[in-house]
Amino acid sequence: MQERSQRGLGEVEYGLLSETEHSDDFSLNGETVGYICERQLSLSMWEAEASQSCPSESHSTNGIQVEPPLEPFVDRVICGDCKDILAKIPENTIDAIITSPPYYRQREYGVETTLIGNEEALEDYIENLVSIFRRCLELLKPTGSLFVNLGDKYEEGSLLLVPYLFAHRLTQATGAKLINVITWVKPNPEPRQYKRRLVSSTEPIFHFVKTSEYKYFYDQFCSHRDVARKRVKGGDNIGKRYLELIKQSELTPEQKSLARKEIIQAIQEVKQGEIASFRVKIRGIHSEAYGGHEGGRKSHLKSKGFTVIKMYDRAIRRDVIECPILSLKSLKHPAVYPEYLVQELLKLTTQPGDVVLDPFLGSGTTSVVAKRMARHYLGIEINPDYCEIANERLENTSVSPDAVEFYL
Ligand SMILES: C[S@@+](CC[C@H](N)C(=O)[O-])C[C@H]1O[C@@H](n2cnc3c(N)ncnc32)[C@H](O)[C@@H]1O
Repeated sequence: MQERSQRGLGEVEYGLLSETEHSDDFSLNGETVGYICERQLSLSMWEAEASQSCPSESHSTNGIQVEPPLEPFVDRVICGDCKDILAKIPENTIDAIITSPPYYRQREYGVETTLIGNEEALEDYIENLVSIFRRCLELLKPTGSLFVNLGDKYEEGSLLLVPYLFAHRLTQATGAKLINVITWVKPNPEPRQYKRRLVSSTEPIFHFVKTSEYKYFYDQFCSHRDVARKRVKGGDNIGKRYLELIKQSELTPEQKSLARKEIIQAIQEVKQGEIASFRVKIRGIHSEAYGGHEGGRKSHLKSKGFTVIKMYDRAIRRDVIECPILSLKSLKHPAVYPEYLVQELLKLTTQPGDVVLDPFLGSGTTSVVAKRMARHYLGIEINPDYCEIANERLENTSVSPDAVEFYL
């Protein structure tokens, strides 16, 4: 069995393993420094291994290996303070960072020296976060994405707007681009009743990038919603009604001819499955759109006498992820975020074989989803008990990229 002794300041030292079948020892200067089968390493062991370029036992990500400088560090949980560990990771090597740091003065995470979140002054908390995420941005590849989920805090009955102060400060300090503030909507918020305010049931997730070259797979985001959309079926009659209306309309012969051409084209597109359906608006027959911009449908109606509105079989990708908070008794961590949330962000910005980092790993959610989706993972967590939970979850997770989880 492993013996563990805690030495304060998040430094956890592991004794040598006595059951060798559980260990995968490696040496530094002729001395066995030890290696833990759950792939949980203290910072010193991890550094030793990194300097030896000891090959890591990667999970299979469709056979895709990571670049050599990063290879010794991936597919493991590293137990320690992320400030120290992030400093050792090579720059421009990570494809995506998805994380939720400790919120401002919200929770205890069982490690006295966890400074993040326990700062007296809000400015200090923001500065500490900015310094960590500045480093995270350095680790990202130019094509990478950084997602930060952060909750707010009430003080004397007023919201502090912590997430937004942080996001504003980070963009100012680093020049990172803020692509979206994705709103996580929780259909099952804490069942509390307040007499003088509503229950907060959303949290922001900030999507930062370093360059406009960021990888982006728009169609993949919440793609299950497309399948749920019904196709409009028209059979052979599709569009016939519009051709009739055009005949009866006040349009000039030239306009009627152009309208017929465009409607027949749209009918073809429906038949070939390129669009789901279409609608036609005709001047003098249909009402004009309220508002509208120059060059839009309203001006088409004026200039051409008609407008064809094509409808695609894809749901519009909104900046919202709706999914419940899971409070599993078996997961002894106070702030687990949903796997679904991580899954959709990974679908949006990564591919199999990419490397996904979470510097505040907690119970391991980010790494678990990355592993399931055949991405490489790198998780850092200061509390050794949470590292163990994360490792257990990872051991029980198999690589199965087709096993998607979804809510509609
Ligand atoms: C909000 S929780 C993350 C929960 C995680 N998303 C999950 O699904 O389980 C933040 C985590 O950061 C850890 N933490 C706090 N300070 C840290 C530090 N300096 N380095 C690494 N981890 C830290 C805490 O112990 C806690 O588990």
